[in-house]
Parts: sequence; C-alpha cells; structure tokens
Amino acid sequence: MCGIVGLVGNTAASPRLVEGLRRLEYRGYDSAGIATLSNSKIDICRAEGKLINLEERIKETPLSGNIGIGHTRWATHGAPSVLNAHPHSTKSVAVVHNGIIENFSSLRSMLKAEGHEFISDTDSEVIPKLIHHLLEQGYKPIEAVASALKRLEGAFALGIIFAGHEQLLIGARRGSPLAIGSHEDESFLASDAFAMAPFTRRISYLEEGDWAVLRPGVTEVFDSSDRAVSRTFQETDYNLDIAGKAGYQHFMEKEIHEQPRVIRDTLNTYYNSAAGKIFLPNDNKELEKLDQLSIVACGTSFYAGLTARYWIEGIARVPTIVDIASEFRYLESPLKENGTALFISQSGETADTLAALRFAKSQQQKIVSVVNVTESTMARESNIVMPTRAGIEIGVASTKAFTTQLVTLACFSIALARKRGAISNKEEVRLTNVLESLPELASKVLAQNQSFIEISAELSEVETVLYLGRGSSYPIALEGALKLKEISYIHAEGYAAGEMKHGPIALIEKNTPVIFIAPSGPLFEKTASNIQEAAARGARIILISDKKGITALNELIHIAFEMPEVDEFVAPILYTIPIQLLAYYTAVSRGTDVDQPRNLAKSVTVE
Ligand code: M6R
Repeated sequence: MCGIVGLVGNTAASPRLVEGLRRLEYRGYDSAGIATLSNSKIDICRAEGKLINLEERIKETPLSGNIGIGHTRWATHGAPSVLNAHPHSTKSVAVVHNGIIENFSSLRSMLKAEGHEFISDTDSEVIPKLIHHLLEQGYKPIEAVASALKRLEGAFALGIIFAGHEQLLIGARRGSPLAIGSHEDESFLASDAFAMAPFTRRISYLEEGDWAVLRPGVTEVFDSSDRAVSRTFQETDYNLDIAGKAGYQHFMEKEIHEQPRVIRDTLNTYYNSAAGKIFLPNDNKELEKLDQLSIVACGTSFYAGLTARYWIEGIARVPTIVDIASEFRYLESPLKENGTALFISQSGETADTLAALRFAKSQQQKIVSVVNVTESTMARESNIVMPTRAGIEIGVASTKAFTTQLVTLACFSIALARKRGAISNKEEVRLTNVLESLPELASKVLAQNQSFIEISAELSEVETVLYLGRGSSYPIALEGALKLKEISYIHAEGYAAGEMKHGPIALIEKNTPVIFIAPSGPLFEKTASNIQEAAARGARIILISDKKGITALNELIHIAFEMPEVDEFVAPILYTIPIQLLAYYTAVSRGTDVDQPRNLAKSVTVE
C-alpha cells in the first residue's frame, strides 16, 4: 500500500527521504517519488518501478533542500507511471497521499471549471489543486490545508510542503495511518514508525481526523475540529538494520526461520510462569458470559480466525462465527446485545477490518483485537488488545505473523475455557504443556528445510495445485494455497478435503499435484479416503503427515514430508511451516520477487 514520509530540518532531505522510502518498500508499491524545496521552489523527482529507478534519476538530477516529502505508490486510480506517481504538485504546493479521495470526481470538475488543469489519472491530484485554489483565494498555507481537509471525503494520510515555506511541513490523517516524530531540531512524519526509525525513536501516532504542523524540532497537533490537542509521544524500539537478512536470501525466509523464537515470545506474553497458567491481558468478566463470538479478518488473518473457531468452539464451547471483513462490514448482521467481536490483523490498519471493527463498536460489541502492531489504529480502538509478538514482518506474504496469531488465539481459547468452566484443570495443564512444546517442534521441522527444495522445483513447473485438509487442517490448506498463489503466481485452490468430491475433484487429471495436510488423529481415516480418491484419478499425492500417517498410505504417495508427532491441538500451527516452505522454495525456483510479489501490498489500507 502507499507509504509516505516527510521531514523538515537542517540537513539534506533527499537522501533521507529515500532512506525512509526504503523502509516503506515492504508495504508494496509500483512507483516512487520525492519533492524538496530548494531556494524556496518545489523540485520533484519521480520514477516508475522500484526505488532504484528513483535513485538513478536523483543521481542524474540531484534535489537539494532541507525539507521534503516522499512516496511509494501502490496504484489504485491510474496505472503505475511517472505522471501518476506522487508527489503531485502545483507551483505553490506539493502533496503525497496514501488512501482514496472518494469525491475526487466532483472536486476535479469544480477545479477544472475554475481553470485548473489535471495531468494525472489519480484521485490524489485534486488535493494540491484544491489547496492551490485556496491559496489563490488568499488563504495562508495552514488555513488552506485546514479548509481543504473539510472538503475531502474518503481516506487519507497526507504530507504537504509549500513553495517559499522552508520550515513548514503539514501532515494529516483520516482513515490511513500517520505517525509524527521529532529529534533535536528536526521533525518527521511517515506512514509508520519503522520508516522514521533512522531519524527518531520519539514518535506519536496521530488520532483519526488529526492534522499536524511540523517545523524544525517542533510539532503541533490539531483535531478534526481544528482544536490544538496534545498527543502522547513514545519511544519505539525498532531495529535499524533492515538491510541485513541475517544470511537468508529473503526476508520471508528469515521470518519463517524466526518462528520458534517468536512463538516462544508470544507464549511468554500470555503464560504466567508463577501461576503455571495462561491469562488474557485484562481480566475480563464479560467473557465468562459470552454466548457467541464473531471473528472478523482478511486474508491470512481470516484463516487464523477459521482455525481458532475449532478451538473456541471445541475447547471453550462458545458458538463462533468467522467472517471476511469486506463482507461482514456490509452484512449488517444482527449482533447479540453486549456481544463480543474479535478482530485479527497483523498490521492493525487493514481498511476493511477496521471498518468492520467500527461497525461492531457501533453495535455496542466489546472489541477484542489480535494485532502485531500494537500502536495501530485497531489496537487503539479495542477494549482488549492481544498482541502477537512476531516483531516487524517485512515479507509481504505473512508467515510468522500467522503462526503467532494462532498461538495467541490458542491461548485465548484456553483462558476463555477456564473462565467459563468449560475445561478441567488437568486438561488445561495438558493443553498448556502442548503449547509449550511448540518452539522446539517448530525448530525440528525447520531443520528439514532441504527436503522441500526438490519438490518445490517440481511444483514450480505446474499450472495448478490443490491443497486439502480436514478439521483444523482445512484452514491450513487455504493458507497453503494462498501462500503459493501470492509469491509463485501458480494457481492454487484450498478446500476442505470432504468437499473435494463436490466439485474440485474435476480439476484432477494425471499428475495434478494435490497436497494433503493430514496429521494422524481422529480425522485421518476420512482424509485417507480422499487421498485414495485423488490417487485413483492420477493425482500426484504430496502428503504432509507424521510417521504413522505416511506409513499407512505409503503406496499412494508421490512424496511425503514427515512431521513430528504432535497433539491435535497445535497441529495446525506446526503444519503451517511446511506449507510456507513449499511456497517459498517454489517461488525461489520460479525466480519471482518473493518479498514484494507483484500487485500485492503488505497492509491494505484502501477498500
Ligand atoms: O494486516 P492484516 O493481517 O490485516 O492483513 C490481512 C491480509 O491483507 C494479509 O493477511 C494478506 O492476505 C497477506 N498478504 C497474506 O500473506
């Protein structure tokens, strides 16, 4: 998704803007640009494609000045091109924008009627034209922005600079995240704290509707009614060294291998060693009486929710519905009075999930969120925040964020079950011990890394792959298919194994790869029948199971990945690792851009 960065200080802006943009690359983008003020005049450089193209252009025509704004663009309105890239400008104002201006069409017509010309296909271009129009009418820069903000509909995070004003940078947010920061005599803004980490650790996330006036070392914040407000600043602890992939070829590979540690960190967040029990962050009485839970999320986070349903219904005995946020937000479901809704999001900024959360809040639901970015909007708008401890995830394809979401949700289920008296002490101790064994088991699976390379080379040649699983392996089949699609661009379908004969079986022909996620356990025999059915139609069976499962089906298998024996409770968490490795090595074999796959954004902050 688009990323913005801006700074005003006393040293050259251009190289630092590019450094900030590099730290926003992980969000996904297809063009980039910066603007600075030199001798009071706006200078702009933009390029299509990766940041390296922008750097080449800057080398040819350097930009001077100590104030500037920068942007990575993920195309929504208008193709990726230099003309559509940000910053957009007039001779008096330059703007970078993340979000969508929904009333751009009417604003554009109004401005055109006033004689303003448009050169891009973007919705964003109306912003500098509108501000310019107001400046022409005699508004001062700050007043012009305050007035323009009231006329914009939709979502935005903005960075704005003005010709002739070398000490004035304005930021604004509505719907899209924006953080501000300062250090000595410099001030900064960016889509996230990570982009600002080389310049300052002292940051504040703006609240919805806020806008900020930044001057060297001084920040002032105003709310949506233009009242001066004070916002809390905090110290971030982001690691500066993102260039290092710790010896791995890609961030995704590094993040897959970080899982034993981050699973442990996440468990430690909820496990109280003195009590030998798992606890929720707030001791919340209402959860005891919970008679239905709505879980809402998008993409991989939605699959974490689907998995959690097996635990929450099976262990805590709470009826649970799981929905995709982009549908839930428009369903207008009749939610139970004083019910609870749980939202899952790595970024905590996904537009649809956030809108669904706000809908649930408007229906008097108690809001629980499982988020990785604890400063995010979702975290700030929730009653109970359950952090995942994945650390920053740079690869666009979610890996460690997913497994730590699962661990968090597994802890939630245990604590909820105890609160509701749905679990015996003995069973609670058993499940907790099983969770505790996960980091070590994850390390064992990762140690078999090499065995995924060979089959991935084979998979990289195929056109379609089916992923099948039953019970809590079903969401992992969905996640496996999503991972493969995202980074290798191979068509893949995830299905509940029992549904295969109701349709997808028609896809199977000789040698079609069908990946079964089938730990031995209560549902194994049923899945084994589906494996028989697929094999009978010539499928290349790739089985992910334990020794017992593999031995039982030896005759039918093209290739098997042997997993450690594991309790059914945590099997979906552990069985995620092989499907991540399969997708990863297949993508590497195909030579795709693993960390920044085409068309994808890390955090989808538009509808
Ligand atoms: O930040 P979120 O967890 O809310 O993001 C949701 C999805 O956009 C995300 O999981 C997406 O599906 C990933 N690219 C999956 O790898």
